[in-house]
Amino acid sequence: MFTSPATLPATQRAWVSARKGFPPSRSLELRTDWPVLKTLKPGQVTVKIQAAALNPLAWKLMRYLPNWIIKRPWAVENDFAGIVVSADSTSRFKVGDEVYGGVDPAIGFSTKQGALQEYVTLPAKDLAKRPPNISPFEAAGVTVTATTALQVLNDTKLEEGQTIFINGGSTSVGAWTIQLAKLRGAKVVVTCSKKNEDYVRSLGADEVIDYTAVGPLHTYLTKSPPSTKFNVVLDAAGLWDSSLYSQSAAYLQPNGIFITVGPTPHEFTWGAVPQLFAWLALLGLPRFLTRVQAKGKNIIGAVRAEDMEFLRRLLEEGKIRPTVDSVYEFEDAVKAFDRIVTARARGKVVVNVSLSQSSRVPST
Ligand SMILES: NC(=O)c1ccc[n+]([C@@H]2O[C@H](COP(=O)([O-])OP(=O)(O)OC[C@H]3O[C@@H](n4cnc5c(N)ncnc54)[C@H](OP(=O)(O)O)[C@@H]3O)[C@@H](O)[C@H]2O)c1
Repeated sequence: MFTSPATLPATQRAWVSARKGFPPSRSLELRTDWPVLKTLKPGQVTVKIQAAALNPLAWKLMRYLPNWIIKRPWAVENDFAGIVVSADSTSRFKVGDEVYGGVDPAIGFSTKQGALQEYVTLPAKDLAKRPPNISPFEAAGVTVTATTALQVLNDTKLEEGQTIFINGGSTSVGAWTIQLAKLRGAKVVVTCSKKNEDYVRSLGADEVIDYTAVGPLHTYLTKSPPSTKFNVVLDAAGLWDSSLYSQSAAYLQPNGIFITVGPTPHEFTWGAVPQLFAWLALLGLPRFLTRVQAKGKNIIGAVRAEDMEFLRRLLEEGKIRPTVDSVYEFEDAVKAFDRIVTARARGKVVVNVSLSQSSRVPST
């Protein structure tokens, strides 16, 4: 039943970014002749992908990344779940293992591989065994956002009894951060729109602010500051306006930390330039010059083997859980991208790469 390298096909179906463009339908093409990388380096495995999940990064790259930086076409996306079909003897996986993981962008670009294709070859460190209580559709969306959330908590050293404020509690990064922060014994205050309040509370949020009803968030928090200032402020929504950090004196401890998942403007127009310089100054200059006491940081998530294993255990023990927003068939991947660009998904937008219809999980 399981495949050895010799029996892997030479080519596969893959969704690739063929040109710079937005919406994603202008950039994407479905190729049927995409090469399957069959040669394993030490420690590598080949995975037959069952399901892939989307991250906002992919459409941002399609929209903004010029060809002179990374030559198109390249296969898109990073997160997936699948079955090992070929494994180097030094890797810790064997043929038939059910896994999930993420294609490191550096490896993806250099080998022209992504998650929206049928087979991917990558280092075993970027994989974990899929716990039996998590379906491939659920597991597909874990790696990028859960490892980023864990890194936020590790980098900020959030401790029991401290408070984290998360702007964007219903984002995937926010949802993992809520769950992991509660496991550390921290208090969690989040923003989300009213419709997502029950969802974020079900994940463990202690207090919820409807960001659509309070006006500018920094103004609201300054006028109604928490009784004890936050130890950590995480912007999981990637606000382009830097005020949540620059105006944080009233609600963030002076020795606290502000962390952003990466500010993104709605459009890179000339109007976005002043904020670009504001961010560069706020995050790059010494704090005696910026006059913001709390530290500021832009997180760039990286997949680490120990983080993968830590998260796998929590998933298996049922201490954290993934959320699936919706599942699309492979041919309908463009519709999946249309969903994620709305920034209204609650949980992961997943694409079925090779599973039968009957394996679908109901949308939450
Ligand atoms: N730095 C890194 O390593 C890294 C890793 C992963 C992701 N990211 C970035 O992190 C951001 C979030 O990614 P994701 O995959 O977690 O997002 P996502 O799941 O696609 O986010 C969708 C959610 O965002 C909420 N939302 C949209 N605008 C908001 C706002 N202004 N304030 C609060 N909530 C808002 C929506 O809730 P409502 O419908 O209630 O508004 C929706 O539930 C993206 O910018 C992504 O590129 C960075």
